[in-house]
Amino acid sequence: MTKIIDGKLISAAFKEKIAEAIISLKAEQNITPGLAVVLVGADPASDVYVRSKGVATKKAGMNSYEHRLPAETTEEELLALIENLNNDDAVDGILVQSPVPDQINYQAVVDVIDPNKDVDGFHPINAGNLLIGSQGFVACTPLGCSILLKHTLGDLTGLDAIIIGRSTIVGKPMAMLLLQQNCTVTIAHSRTKDLDKKCAQADIVVAAVGRPEMVKKDWIKQGATVIDVGINRMGSTETGKAKLVGDVAFEEVSEIAGAITPVPGGVGPMTIACLMYNTLKAACDRRDLDIPDVFDEFL
Ligand code: GUN
Repeated sequence: MTKIIDGKLISAAFKEKIAEAIISLKAEQNITPGLAVVLVGADPASDVYVRSKGVATKKAGMNSYEHRLPAETTEEELLALIENLNNDDAVDGILVQSPVPDQINYQAVVDVIDPNKDVDGFHPINAGNLLIGSQGFVACTPLGCSILLKHTLGDLTGLDAIIIGRSTIVGKPMAMLLLQQNCTVTIAHSRTKDLDKKCAQADIVVAAVGRPEMVKKDWIKQGATVIDVGINRMGSTETGKAKLVGDVAFEEVSEIAGAITPVPGGVGPMTIACLMYNTLKAACDRRDLDIPDVFDEFL
């Protein structure tokens, strides 16, 4: 029987621990962590993500600061806002939703975020710390995938993993996390030869390419664990809502995989839960407080 990896359920348990830790932080230290989320322009998908992040932040008991800027905002104006947020003591975490409009260089913006408030884990210092195995912030989506894999498989030592996609946000940090856990890691991308055959050898497949239902049943080894990072909005349904599909052809791959994440309800909720965790961690780290060890069972 194929196991459906329930990201909603696992993220709910993780978020409950986060909310408990925040209650203690308030009671014992009088600290309420704060997360600032910046959205430039009105990309509809980004709008949904930013809204969900705000809702989750408040639900966890933290302060949410939303900054919605017009699409014409200049890079200079955005950099000035980041500078203010860096210096604002009420703000523990800063996140600039990507993509940003063309006149803004996203990496130039990330580079000025205080690394101690970089809850996305995108700053070069945090990306570098992950590479060398030092302490820092880990990007939320790969961290969420890693939690799901630990929950499903336990120890990953010796397993063959393939990641389809080499982005800075998902593919590359995912590879580092899996290497740390003693997997043998392949990073595949649009120029990879015989992708289907390489996938079919893997015990773990992480699909993060942004192509609807690209990964088919005959790409998957019997019993493999499949993590689908894709969120592709397809034409609207009868209700007028966009249908979400992943990068994996869920129905057919479910017939062969040992375990698989659904879309929606798999990786997505974990990404938000990890953002809450990183914000709590930022609030603790900035004040030299230990983060409670109740999180060890997840991470
Ligand atoms: N756009 C898509 N995913 C992400 C993410 O994890 N963080 C930010 N800042 N933007 C995104």
